[in-house]
Amino acid sequence: MKILLIGSGAREHALARALAADPATDALVIAPGNPGMADLGELLDVDALSGEDVADLAVAHEVDLVVVGPEAPLVAGVGDTVRAAGIPVFGPDAAAARLEGSKAYAKEIMALAEVPTAMARVCTTIEQVADALDAFGAPHVVKDDGLAAGKGVVVTSDREEALAHAAQCLAGTSGDASTGGQPAVVIEEFLDGPEVSLFCLADGERVVPLAPAQDFKRIGDDDAGPNTGGMGAYSPLDWAPEDLTQQVVERVAQPVVTELARRGTPFVGLLYCGLALTSRGLRVIEFNVRFGDPETQVVLARLRTPLAGLLLAAATGNLPDPDALRWDSGSAVGVVVASHGYPGKVRTGDAITGTADAERIDGVHVLHAGTSRDDEGTLVSSGGRVLTVVGLGDDLDAARGAAYAGIERISLADAQWRTDIARAAAEGRITVP
Ligand code: AMP
Ligand code: GLY
Repeated sequence: MKILLIGSGAREHALARALAADPATDALVIAPGNPGMADLGELLDVDALSGEDVADLAVAHEVDLVVVGPEAPLVAGVGDTVRAAGIPVFGPDAAAARLEGSKAYAKEIMALAEVPTAMARVCTTIEQVADALDAFGAPHVVKDDGLAAGKGVVVTSDREEALAHAAQCLAGTSGDASTGGQPAVVIEEFLDGPEVSLFCLADGERVVPLAPAQDFKRIGDDDAGPNTGGMGAYSPLDWAPEDLTQQVVERVAQPVVTELARRGTPFVGLLYCGLALTSRGLRVIEFNVRFGDPETQVVLARLRTPLAGLLLAAATGNLPDPDALRWDSGSAVGVVVASHGYPGKVRTGDAITGTADAERIDGVHVLHAGTSRDDEGTLVSSGGRVLTVVGLGDDLDAARGAAYAGIERISLADAQWRTDIARAAAEGRITVP
């Protein structure tokens, strides 16, 4: 089969690698892609937010499947346009993508489907915000209703900071239909307990879970500093309850997919369940409607079942039995290398060396995100998150050792990376309250 993959991050590099490794894949077209993907497929330019452009590209290249990596094209309706052109798409239509596009809408669906989540109030005025902050108490959780590239959530015990973030969210110009088109902010109760990401493939009716992973959202070691798009991940989670995946499917993913089908907006693609394992049981923190970054980099590193066939099966309503999936028995750890200044104003154009050297280490591969080639062909940084270095090993210690040995061989001026990815898990220090 021929596949068009949309996106340019390390998540898409991981997808491209797995799709290209599937014997059923004859050719891969990637738009726009990045330099790391150049030998996995043909790289082409596209306006990823334009359904017409993506559909035209898919038709021109006679692809059998379009895989959309990021959320913005899905929320903008790229899936609708490509499907209307008769091409199977892995990724939901705009109506189902509202699950990620509006946190208020996600809460509405969870209430209908009886999915456990944090208590929350949707606010459209600062007076409502102040009331809600007082009602739930500190620590305060303040979320922009709409898409914010991982930067819309502030968790703080400082009431002034919570109010300031809410005011900034409410200063937007538009919002989701569920708040009458007004900008909105969601104030939630604080959830204790470790976080888990579980990806579920969905074909409109059924769901097939992948392996759970854990993501590290803050910029600094020991979760210090501001939230980022994600600084690292590992999988599997040896500390998690044995029936975690089954519970999430039964109590979260399947009820949501069933509710969306009932409403006539079936979910086809990846339902990312972001969860907290709290003292009162599991709670949904967020849904995303696409693969997570950087969790994808570690989850796909362990998946043995050919990916292209699975995504086509989801896109055409034919998902197999969940037991059909095969996994590597070892662990994977992914560490993100970010630019100077990230997650604030980043510096770009710095030379990157040593990636090939890193990949000579057993079990190590390097995925590109914010990289490009300058006029001389030198690899340089071009974004906030630059690389994900993935290490595979028999256990978390070995996988961590591989990933960090890989990082040692890479050079990027003033790069930032966390040194504690998967450390607490490897040391047996994660407990569920
Ligand atoms: P989100 O974009 O909704 O995933 O939120 C980003 C991060 O904020 C999450 O990964 C959590 O670390 C944190 N967070 C979000 N909601 C809550 C909550 N209700 N309680 C505690 N932490 C939260
Ligand atoms: N890992 C968080 C996200 O993809 O949104």
